[in-house]
Amino acid sequence: MSSQLTSLKKIYSGKVRDLYEIDDKRMLMIASDRLSAFDVILDDPIPGKGQILTAISNFWFDKLKDVVPNHLTGDKPEDVVTADELPLVAGRGVVAKRLKPVMVEAVVRGYLAGSGWKEYQKSGTVCGIRLPAGLKESSKLPEPIFTPSTKAAVGDHDENISFAQCEAIIGAELAAKVRDTAILLYKTASEYAATRGIIICDTKFEFGLDQDGALVLMDEALTPDSSRFWPADSYVEGSNPPSFDKQFVRDWLEASGWNKQAPAPAVPLEVREKTAAKYREALERLAG
Ligand SMILES: Nc1ncnc2c1ncn2[C@@H]1O[C@H](COP(=O)(O)OP(=O)(O)OP(=O)(O)O)[C@@H](O)[C@H]1O
Ligand SMILES: [Mg+2]
Repeated sequence: MSSQLTSLKKIYSGKVRDLYEIDDKRMLMIASDRLSAFDVILDDPIPGKGQILTAISNFWFDKLKDVVPNHLTGDKPEDVVTADELPLVAGRGVVAKRLKPVMVEAVVRGYLAGSGWKEYQKSGTVCGIRLPAGLKESSKLPEPIFTPSTKAAVGDHDENISFAQCEAIIGAELAAKVRDTAILLYKTASEYAATRGIIICDTKFEFGLDQDGALVLMDEALTPDSSRFWPADSYVEGSNPPSFDKQFVRDWLEASGWNKQAPAPAVPLEVREKTAAKYREALERLAG
């Protein structure tokens, strides 16, 4: 649930990842088995989730490295901790460049689902972007759209913002670059995923700036935590496809009658193991 390294100084604990300082340029990022649903961290772990997320992100970072550079330095996490701490980083640690975070979340949607579908039914728009009439639940959009959100602190909810608000937060030039890069990442990843029988409905990227001001992909990439993945063979327009992501545990939490305020109810081991199996299936399908 939480990493406790003593050889390095902890600098941050996010909802899922713990960050440790290596030096002024590098940090060790450890993905825990924590799961956050509706922005509340569950009390119990999803067994092995941190390793699965790390494997999926590393896979995509490599696959997408010609689209945009990523935060991995190439150093091994095993080389920056002491021998007794090796089990804590095995498969879940990465050595990353310390970047200046771009203060928006770069969401790209290629299909109509979740909050986007709800908004479309009311107003014909998604995050304020007008879409053609007649789309159904899960319809493919004519083109992927960029729907940024704020970067909330732990315990807060990310909020959708317009592109104009995004420009106001990070500047017009950077906003355009983030939008274009995120859409190109989404398109490139979607083309590949299609060859593995997976539809990427939507996803969220995070970017940072390096010392030269260059845009770098950071945090995680195209995991079941940051994306909705649908199996292509059970995709039917007009219905909500099953998914390899948090939806399974979200459905359980909603059915439990929980009011979505912390603390979350205890989730039975069986449900947590089934969630882990969905994450594993995403990794196996994508990376083989
Ligand atoms: N290379 C990097 N340089 C600086 N900060 C980074 C880098 N990679 C990731 N981060 C930041 O480290 C934190 C990782 O924590 P975690 O992934 O648990 O995210 P979170 O922000 O709490 O939640 P979520 O990703 O679900 O919105 C995030 O705040 C992320 O922006
Ligand atoms: Mg994150």
